[in-house]
Amino acid sequence: MKGIVLAGGLGTRLYPLTKVTNKHLLPVYNEPMIYYPIKTLVNAGIDEILIVTGGNNAGDFLRLLGNGSDFGLRHINYTYQEGEGGIAAALGLAEFFADRDKIVVLLGDNIIEGNIRKAVEAFRVQESGARIMLKEVPDPQRFGVAVFEGDRIVRIDEKPAVPASPYAVIGVYMYDGRVFDFIKTLKPSERGELEITDVNNFYIREGNLFWDILEGWWSDAGTFESLQYAGNMVAKTGANKMDGPAWIQSNPDKS
Ligand code: G1P
Repeated sequence: MKGIVLAGGLGTRLYPLTKVTNKHLLPVYNEPMIYYPIKTLVNAGIDEILIVTGGNNAGDFLRLLGNGSDFGLRHINYTYQEGEGGIAAALGLAEFFADRDKIVVLLGDNIIEGNIRKAVEAFRVQESGARIMLKEVPDPQRFGVAVFEGDRIVRIDEKPAVPASPYAVIGVYMYDGRVFDFIKTLKPSERGELEITDVNNFYIREGNLFWDILEGWWSDAGTFESLQYAGNMVAKTGANKMDGPAWIQSNPDKS
């Protein structure tokens, strides 16, 4: 299984912090933001990693991360996203790297207290399809939101004004090799982006999306409030703990 960290974008919600640098190079307490998703992958046993970056200061990633020795890696792969096309467009650039293998995709601004090892192991033995992780949040309208019928997810709504549940889809996505075929059929959303939520909805329509609930705290770090919250939580409890809260598999059946 291969890992992909999406670290492009313009980070406009953090302007002017992102006027001259990439969001994922900003500090979250005592480490650059991108360290956290890389550690999440490494802690899940994934050592073949691609960083998709773009926008400002793309070259700084190479200087910061090098070949990944800080994470116990011997090599890191990099690719460059021209312009701003959204999460699914950035993921599309990973097609050659993935080479039809299963992939675990992390948004470069998502930080977790525990680890995703068990969910990744469950995906490893999953025959095909996708796997997402959910977290109950007080402000679901900021995220992709799972819509349930009983125990089944029937749809994910991207940033709904009226959320159908309190369960946000966090930025940890697991896909089989067909994800790139789905991405090629996507049309830009109202915000002009290829949405990862539309990719997940493909798998839901196929009846091939599994889900887990993440335990422990989770935060994105793409707004001033969430960046500060993430830094405070890292300072308070630490992040990416191997012995910390992991996950509970609340729905072992497909959606
Ligand atoms: C993105 C996704 C959203 C997801 C969130 C997690 O939102 O579009 O579905 O819940 O990441 O961090 P964005 O950061 O693009 O607003």
